[in-house]
Amino acid sequence: MKIALTGTPGTGKTTIGKILRDRYGLKVVDINEVIRAHQYYAGWDEYRDCLIVDLEALRAHPFSEDLVLEGHLSHNLLVDRVIVLRTNPVALRRRLQQKAFSAKKINENVEAEILDVILVEALAQHGNAVYEVDSTGTLSESAQLVWEIIQGHWLERFVAGQCDWTAYLNDA
Ligand SMILES: Nc1ncnc2c1ncn2[C@@H]1O[C@H](COP(=O)(O)OP(=O)(O)O)[C@@H](O)[C@H]1O
Ligand SMILES: [Mg+2]
Repeated sequence: MKIALTGTPGTGKTTIGKILRDRYGLKVVDINEVIRAHQYYAGWDEYRDCLIVDLEALRAHPFSEDLVLEGHLSHNLLVDRVIVLRTNPVALRRRLQQKAFSAKKINENVEAEILDVILVEALAQHGNAVYEVDSTGTLSESAQLVWEIIQGHWLERFVAGQCDWTAYLNDA
């Protein structure tokens, strides 16, 4: 089974991906590395300060079976299940500050998190195969929840639409 682990930057995809690899021996692929290694991009977006990714080329990449595909574009891939990490906007802002993101990037990402941008994109493509994990708490807890979804344990607990950050709109 292929699983996409997606979410706004700073929600913990890479860190949780490492825990899944170390703790449970899963094969985890950072799709940003695949994009760079195979040059699946069409240029650089000066305004948004990021790569313009060629999603068609990325989708056609021959990923092997039984993988966790980690990255904020992974829900655009042909996968069996999508896990969207969600983080409280106040905590997310703090994490992005620690990562030394620019003020513009921090605001852009916090706003995207509040507006459910990645969740909506994931739902549009994968419907009821989309699950949500609130990764605001401890890392160990969050990784455990992601692991439970991967194993298919009691999936109803994680149906999409549980994280509502609209009360934080004024913080964006
Ligand atoms: N519950 C949590 N889940 C995931 N990351 C967390 C959590 N609590 C704190 N963090 C921290 O947040 C940061 C997330 O960064 P990273 O994994 O690079 O995010 P992403 O790959 O989604 O951009 C890390 O420094 C991580 O240690
Ligand atoms: Mg990452």
